[in-house]
Amino acid sequence: MSRQTSVAGVVLMLAVLLSPLAARAQELKLVPLPAPQLGGGKPLMQALKERTSARAFSPERLPVQVLANLLWAGYGVNRPETGGRTAPSANNSQETDIYVATADGLYVYEAKAHALRPILADDIRALTGRQAFVKEAPVNLVYVADLGRMTRAREEDRDFYASAHTGFISQNVYLYCASEGLATVVRASIDRPALAKAMQLRPEQRITLSQTVGYPKR
Ligand SMILES: Cc1cc2nc3c(=O)[nH]c(=O)nc-3n(C[C@H](O)[C@H](O)[C@H](O)COP(=O)(O)O)c2cc1C
Repeated sequence: MSRQTSVAGVVLMLAVLLSPLAARAQELKLVPLPAPQLGGGKPLMQALKERTSARAFSPERLPVQVLANLLWAGYGVNRPETGGRTAPSANNSQETDIYVATADGLYVYEAKAHALRPILADDIRALTGRQAFVKEAPVNLVYVADLGRMTRAREEDRDFYASAHTGFISQNVYLYCASEGLATVVRASIDRPALAKAMQLRPEQRITLSQTVGYPKR
């Protein structure tokens, strides 16, 4: 991608993320994310040293480049030639999707296109967990497993595999946050039926966990 194209992409994405009206106008159109920055960051051992859960978040929004890096680190395509991802999944079923709840609406991360697909123009952050900070933090990731994609796993194994898969993605997000100085916490305390309804999920889609991300509260 040329520098000009990537700047144009960033401007478009900023317009979408920063303006609720723009988000509504963009309904259902794929919103490209800037390419992930693969250089820099803290050394892995330092990021591991700093990994921690936080429960106090600044309302400050994440720059689109940071969101793009975060999603790629969490579960992006790291081997385009095979479609391989940054987290493993049983039988490579890749059943988990990362939904992104922001003030401007709900999106799903389309890893292959490295883009966000708008799902809803509503702010459903408050429904992503039972703790008060979820509605203040700029981003709540919701991990959703589509059990219908796990055709090679025995039915009795599917929930377990989906939970394990979420754990790998969540830890990638933890390590990116540690490297970037972001606050995060993975959360199981969710009213799943209420959230699934708000997200308009299909019956075979299961919410595994949610994860709040933002700058630490100063
Ligand atoms: C499966 C799982 C569910 C969790 N659910 C919540 C939660 O609902 N709310 C919360 O504040 N923290 C939650 N946590 C975070 C843990 O409380 C946290 O990881 C633990 O206290 C250890 O702290 P540390 O992550 O800073 O090492 C959860 C962690 C895991 C792995």
